Amino acid sequence: MVATKTKSKSRKTVSSNGRKSVSSNGRKAVSTNGRKPAKKKRPATTRKPRRPKYQLLPPLSPEEYAALRADIAARGIQVPVDVDDNGAILDGHSRTQIAEELGIKHYPIRVVSGLTEQQKRHHVLTSNLNRRHLSRKQKREIVAQELKRSPSITDNWLAELTGVDHKTVGALRRRLVANREIPNLTRFKARNGKVYRARSIIAQTAIDAKRAQEALRELNGEAPNKPLTLRRAEELVRRQRWVPRGKLLKRPSLNGITLHHCDFRDLKVRRGGVKLIFTDPPYQQRHLSLWDDLGKFAKRVLAADGLLVAYSGIEYLPTVMNSLGKHLRYQWTHALIFDGDRSVHFQMNVANSWRPLLIYAKKKAKFPICFRDVFFNNKREKEYHEYQQNLSAASHYIDVLTKRTNLICDPFGGSFTTAVAAAQLGRKFVGCDIDERCVAMGYERLAEVAAKRKAKAKKRKTR
Ligand SMILES: C[S@@+](CC[C@H](N)C(=O)[O-])C[C@H]1O[C@@H](n2cnc3c(N)ncnc32)[C@H](O)[C@@H]1O
Repeated sequence: MVATKTKSKSRKTVSSNGRKSVSSNGRKAVSTNGRKPAKKKRPATTRKPRRPKYQLLPPLSPEEYAALRADIAARGIQVPVDVDDNGAILDGHSRTQIAEELGIKHYPIRVVSGLTEQQKRHHVLTSNLNRRHLSRKQKREIVAQELKRSPSITDNWLAELTGVDHKTVGALRRRLVANREIPNLTRFKARNGKVYRARSIIAQTAIDAKRAQEALRELNGEAPNKPLTLRRAEELVRRQRWVPRGKLLKRPSLNGITLHHCDFRDLKVRRGGVKLIFTDPPYQQRHLSLWDDLGKFAKRVLAADGLLVAYSGIEYLPTVMNSLGKHLRYQWTHALIFDGDRSVHFQMNVANSWRPLLIYAKKKAKFPICFRDVFFNNKREKEYHEYQQNLSAASHYIDVLTKRTNLICDPFGGSFTTAVAAAQLGRKFVGCDIDERCVAMGYERLAEVAAKRKAKAKKRKTR
């Protein structure tokens, strides 16, 4: 047996059959005829808990942990916990543990997808090292750990990742090579100036984080390499899954129902011909200007006793109401109450459970009947569109506010839930969407209504 001399505590021995064995305490490794000596199993209670795979940095000191705990108790978790698409924590082990200890269930979780193992490790290093205050010794240990894992990384790249000087990396590399802990390489992998951008979704609850993982997995390479919202990712999944049956824009045979593919500002509707506009415009800040145009559109197409019922977000409600109020008379606000929290608004610390339905008229007048100003929206219906609304809500308002011969309009059709409700209730409908696929979705949904109606009529005939 030839023993190789090393400076470090661990000593490598090479047996005559060429196999290496390492003893960590400096004592000679005992070779039992080339077989590995059977390891003594420690009883489960004395075994050290396994370090999570991506916990590359030393755990927080008790003082740091206590300070973080106090901060989280006072302000909640501010920095999202990063997990990969299998749910393994990349960054935020302490935050997760503290959330568990404090019983915090709602906190931001960012699902990061599409990274290689190396990219995951680099992501962990860069995101942690900016925040943590590590000693020189701790930083050097991390550099050594990374050099052992991927010796072919260049000194400059690793220095950048770990926030140390490239000369420090070089010195550590030389020491590890001398100790034969890493090979003495002559070719290295540089970063090529390429910056990777991860696909990620910030979820607000553990359930949403699971949904985000599933969506990113299903999208596989198809998702754009940038941060997405959960809604957007699920919309992309639905679009990926959704295959229009038959021709993309095949019209179903339903009398009095017309869908158009256009901007609502170009939608041709007879002046004063619409009894009810039941619609759901986009709520984001960048779409706020649409509300003014919607007010103008409604003023033109609504009958003298016509009503506009519009879903709205809450964040920009004053602007929305101001825009509609320029053209129409405010009637009332209804509340659509969801079953459970639908979304958590972290900037405001609000778990949102309702949506306003704003009602405007050309002339302020009594509603045709006395009806409650809340509606309970229990079922989540999102099989066609990321912003798809509940069919029962549309049916309820159309039923209460219109009669059989009336014309209903939805200028922001989406998956045309309003058109489906109107068709089922025997009303006329005209609507549009700027997205061609939405119009195709609408036709598909309406074709189902037509087929059901036909089957019903056939059954009645045969009775
Ligand atoms: C919130 S979604 C409507 C969802 C619908 N309530 C449902 O149940 O499926 C809003 C829709 O408005 C459409 N849209 C946005 N801007 C538009 C415009 N200027 N004209 C027509 N449609 C528009 C979008 O393509 C989107 O499908």
